[in-house]
Amino acid sequence: MPDKLNLAVLISGGGSNLQALIDACAAPDFPARIQLVISNRPDAYGIERAKIANIDTKIIDHNKYTKRIEFEKRVQNALSNYPIDLICLAGFMRILTADFINHWPKKIINTHPALLPKFGGKGMYGEHVHRAVLEAGETESGASIHYVIPEVDQGPVISQAKVPVLAADTINTLSTRVIEQEHKLYPEAVKKIASERRP
Ligand code: GRF
Repeated sequence: MPDKLNLAVLISGGGSNLQALIDACAAPDFPARIQLVISNRPDAYGIERAKIANIDTKIIDHNKYTKRIEFEKRVQNALSNYPIDLICLAGFMRILTADFINHWPKKIINTHPALLPKFGGKGMYGEHVHRAVLEAGETESGASIHYVIPEVDQGPVISQAKVPVLAADTINTLSTRVIEQEHKLYPEAVKKIASERRP
């Protein structure tokens, strides 16, 4: 089997998408492994998930840095200790600068809880996305895995999964239905990228 893709996963919270990637990587034939998990929040439960899976972790608290580039310098330093092929943003709640993103061309991907290009952009995260979907009267929503470019949520879509929006839906019920799809979609997208990068 060709070399596996080496992943870094960046998180800010619960890390259920990280868990989906950890679980996928546990299969011997999955074409990727997680080298490092970075959280910008010291209390992110995802850090515990990584530790349980024996994955190296690094907490880089963005509150300690007044400038975004100072924070990102620490992130770059942490990444430079590992042979990273692909950075997976998984519930990572910081906007990255163009400098950072351009340093990793086509090597940063993200999961977004809606059918991009709809319901993306600054301010469209977490429950704001689902509220907007419900308020717009959409009949379907879903999840998107996309490449990260400097324009927030506008990078090329790698894969999407749709879910119905039901009349009785609340932010809670809709987000639960969507995140179940993200958990399947994220490992699939990593697999797809791995297969495309092979000679
Ligand atoms: C996901 O729905 C992701 O799309 C959004 O935040 C959620 C992260 O959940 N940006 P988790 O931390 O992976 O559990």
